[in-house]
Amino acid sequence: MPPAVLDLARPARRVCVLTGAGMSAESGIPTFRDAQVGLWERFDPLELATLSAWASDPGQVWAWYAWRAGLVAGARPHAGHRALARWQRRPGVDLTVATQNVDDLHERAGSDVLAHLHGSLFVLRCSACDRASDASYPVMPEPVARLDPPTCTSCGGPVRPGVVWFGEALPEDDFLSAVDAAQAADLVLVVGTSGIVHPAATLPHLAGARGVPVVEVNPRESAVSEAADEVWRATAATALPALVEALDDEREASR
Ligand code: APR
Repeated sequence: MPPAVLDLARPARRVCVLTGAGMSAESGIPTFRDAQVGLWERFDPLELATLSAWASDPGQVWAWYAWRAGLVAGARPHAGHRALARWQRRPGVDLTVATQNVDDLHERAGSDVLAHLHGSLFVLRCSACDRASDASYPVMPEPVARLDPPTCTSCGGPVRPGVVWFGEALPEDDFLSAVDAAQAADLVLVVGTSGIVHPAATLPHLAGARGVPVVEVNPRESAVSEAADEVWRATAATALPALVEALDDEREASR
């Protein structure tokens, strides 16, 4: 662990953790810019996660999200998710999680999540009248190319995933809460994001502009790296447990 990262984390009492798809990678969920696998190999997620794709072929988009929901349901939070949840429970530490991920792995590891900046896979709503839907994804042992989405019990419209598609506005409350948390933090930890999708990608820069120390955890260089005060070239499932363990050990030693 870079000593400077522990030096920044040790005194931190208001920690804002911003996570991206790399946070879920070691749980087996492919990142957005990793190659898609299997049936979806020939599709570009950046084309499927759009209103126009939904308008032209809701059955294809619903099948893709049903496949992704199955991946998430079959995945488990890893040691990095659990380490963040443990850190969040430390007395005297106010740790907030703002994620671009639409999965529920942070919650399943025990973290409270302040903001799902790009929505949530498992929050379904009617694409016509916007009412929340209690429909659910079908269990899919194998991915299929097309699947009729459920219909809204109120207006009969097709039910869609509650995720933010390209070109759609982010949930305003979530985004503004994340901006407040990043600017009020005394440490911002950015884990597993390429930092190229705005406005979520502005958060580390907004924090840095306020003089908040920014640490990046990512095995590769990203658009966040230049704004980071410290860069830790490691994966989420190795770096986060190491950091929280070091903080716990120091706390024990100082008792
Ligand atoms: N640990 C940490 N970081 C990792 C790991 C890992 N095990 N594996 C990959 N990464 C990093 C990659 O190096 C990359 O920088 O995670 C990042 C993933 O980048 P993207 O796939 O672009 O995902 P993300 O940044 O979350 O995308 C933002 O774009 O596609 C839209 O809405 C979608 O929320 C998504 C948004």
